[in-house]
Amino acid sequence: MTYRVGYFVGSLSSTSINRRLSQALISLAPEDLEFTEIPIGDLALYSPDFDGDYPPEAQALKDAIAGSDAVLFVTPEYNRSIPGALKNAIDWASRPYGQNSFDHIPAAVIGASVGSLGTALAQQSLRAVLSFCNARQMTAPEAYVHFRAEDYADDGTVTDEGTAEFLRGFMAEFRDHIQRVLTVLPRP
Ligand code: FNR
Repeated sequence: MTYRVGYFVGSLSSTSINRRLSQALISLAPEDLEFTEIPIGDLALYSPDFDGDYPPEAQALKDAIAGSDAVLFVTPEYNRSIPGALKNAIDWASRPYGQNSFDHIPAAVIGASVGSLGTALAQQSLRAVLSFCNARQMTAPEAYVHFRAEDYADDGTVTDEGTAEFLRGFMAEFRDHIQRVLTVLPRP
C-alpha cells in the first residue's frame, strides 16, 4: 500500500530553507510514501464572496487535498506565527462551510528557522488552526529544526548524520501515524 502525501511549503521565497527541508524529508521518507506539492503561491486572498464559485487555483487546492491520503506542512515562522500565505491557503481549503477539506485527514507539521526556536511558535499556531479544522495531527515527535546550511547539500541531501537520522525517524513515525488514522478513518 502506498500513501499519497500532499505537502505544503509555507514559504514563497525562492531561496526557502523550508523548501530545502521538504526535499530532505522526501529523500529520507519510507518508500511507501509518495509526495506531491500542493502550491499556495497563486491563490487570491480568501473571501466568502468566492464560496459560490471557487476560482481554479482554489478548486485545484481542494482537489489536491481530496486526492491525498495525508498532508504535511513544512513552514517557516513569521512574527512568531503562521506565514500569511499558508494561513490563506488553509482558509480556502476549510471552506465553503460544510466542505472542509481537512476533516479527519492525517497531518504532520514541521518547520525550519535560522533561529534556535526552530519555528516552535508558528507550529503551535498552526496546530491550533489544524485542530479546529479537525485534521488528525501527529502529536509526537515534534520537530523544530534549527537550520544550519552546512548540514545540507545543494540537492537537498542531508550531510549531517544526526540530522538525517532525526528527520528519517520523523517521517517513519508520520507513515505509521497515517496508517493508524486511515485504519479507523478511511479517506472517502
Ligand atoms: C522571519 N523570520 C523569523 N524567524 C523566527 O525564528 N521567528 C520569527 O518570528 C520570524 N519572523 C519572520 C518574519 C518575516 C516576515 C520574515 C521574512 C522572516 C526569519 C525566518 O526564520 C527566516 O527568514 C527563514 O529563512 C524563513 O524561512 P524560508 O522562507 O527560508 O523557508
